[in-house]
Amino acid sequence: MTVSMIVAKGTNNEIGKNNDLLWYLPSDLKFFKATTMGKSIIMGRKTFQSLPKALPGRKNIVISSDKDFDAPGATVVTDIEAALKESETEEVFIIGGASIYKAYFPIAHKLYITEVEFEDKDADVYFPEIDLTEWKSEILDEGEENGLKYKHILYSKM
Ligand SMILES: NC(=O)c1ccc[n+]([C@@H]2O[C@H](COP(=O)([O-])OP(=O)(O)OC[C@H]3O[C@@H](n4cnc5c(N)ncnc54)[C@H](OP(=O)(O)O)[C@@H]3O)[C@@H](O)[C@H]2O)c1
Repeated sequence: MTVSMIVAKGTNNEIGKNNDLLWYLPSDLKFFKATTMGKSIIMGRKTFQSLPKALPGRKNIVISSDKDFDAPGATVVTDIEAALKESETEEVFIIGGASIYKAYFPIAHKLYITEVEFEDKDADVYFPEIDLTEWKSEILDEGEENGLKYKHILYSKM
């Protein structure tokens, strides 16, 4: 199984505030959709609640300590190993939030990172620091939208 993470992070690894994202980048949402479509996706309960509904075309797996958490369109599990067992695809995507990225980071094989040139000192959740001696990187593409420059970078564990 390949464990991949997908995240959009700012200059200081910031990823969110008040259970929401820090920017609105439609082209990045398209990248997220294209990359995860057809795959199993694993997320924390708060990230699930930040979405309007379960994401179509993907097996949604939600982690919560409450096994009865009501998550229409998703499978609820109570620990990170159970979530991996529920995956129906060879590549599984960890889609956040911060607590879930942290939990899976040590076993991740690939990181699909959108690096956004943006800082928010009031962010309240962060992505783990990437040690560049452990990962090789490849720029997939770059662009600018809504006044924000970004790069899509694929990191692979060495
Ligand atoms: N920039 C990005 O790409 C991106 C992507 C995703 C999310 N985000 C942002 O990240 C923020 C949410 O992150 P977060 O860390 O606050 O919340 P989260 O990781 O989405 O969810 C946290 C919840 O997941 C459950 N959980 C986590 N680890 C668990 C474990 N080991 N066993 C059982 N349950 C576990 C718990 O649910 P219970 O409390 O129900 O037990 C916990 O309260 C939001 O601001 C969101 O917008 C950003």
